[in-house]
Amino acid sequence: MNPPASKSALVTGGAQGIGLATARRLAADGWQLAIADNDAEALAEAQARQSGFLALECDVADEASVARAVAAAVARFGRLDALVSNAGISGAASGPLEQLTLAEWNRRIGTNLTGVFLMAKHCARHLRAAQGAIVNVASTRALQSEPHTEAYSAAKGGVVALSHALAMSLGPAVRVNCVSPGWIDVRAWRKRARRDAAPLGAADHAQHPVGRVGKPEDVAAMIAWLLSADAGFVTGQNFVVDGGMTRKMIYVE
Ligand code: NAI
Repeated sequence: MNPPASKSALVTGGAQGIGLATARRLAADGWQLAIADNDAEALAEAQARQSGFLALECDVADEASVARAVAAAVARFGRLDALVSNAGISGAASGPLEQLTLAEWNRRIGTNLTGVFLMAKHCARHLRAAQGAIVNVASTRALQSEPHTEAYSAAKGGVVALSHALAMSLGPAVRVNCVSPGWIDVRAWRKRARRDAAPLGAADHAQHPVGRVGKPEDVAAMIAWLLSADAGFVTGQNFVVDGGMTRKMIYVE
């Protein structure tokens, strides 16, 4: 008898940063991986770092592109057990409110929120068939803000809400959860042209209740657990992975 085919996962924004760390973690756990990203250069470098990934050029904000990527993943693996919607335009600030153009607002909402909807929509029937799971990546900026982050924060707040809505619509076949990272140092996980390994300052680490800035692997570990059978009683939730920063009182003494 043939062994059962191993489970397959599609990770958006999987060519760099948290997405790439998640893809590598899942591959190490035995999953087959498709990484979908709109940066062709980063995709090529990610594939060179980890052979065996199915690299899919895809803009998550474009429905036809999403449909093509999902179809390609299913064609390769014959099934889809997990979706990690992680692609995002990072860099929270989008400029003062009065100068925030509608085009820039729509660009950030398009990738960071609409992309999550489109991926869930096109993966849903495959995930139902596999009794699978979704993890969406939001941000602690869904819960707290700096100035000039309206578009990013609104999108990420939308991802938290969209996640519990999806959990109700797709359950019981599909569990849907959300992870909200705090400050994660992804610089070493980016393509060469965006890589920066300069050490962070001592204060950067010390301000965190756990004593350090986050690593992509910290988020990947939470996502891997949420996709596992051990999380079978968990759906519709948002998990904050931020070293305790959102629990810290910051009033000046
Ligand atoms: P990153 O910039 O290193 O990686 C994001 C990836 O998404 C890139 O490979 C990029 O090419 C891809 N991408 C961007 N727009 C896309 C689109 N329209 N279609 C397909 N792919 C697209 O960023 P990082 O830091 O790894 O962020 C990953 C996720 O985590 C994002 O959703 C971000 O908002 C979120 N996050 C990151 C935090 C951090 O401190 N690094 C904190 C909180 C949330």
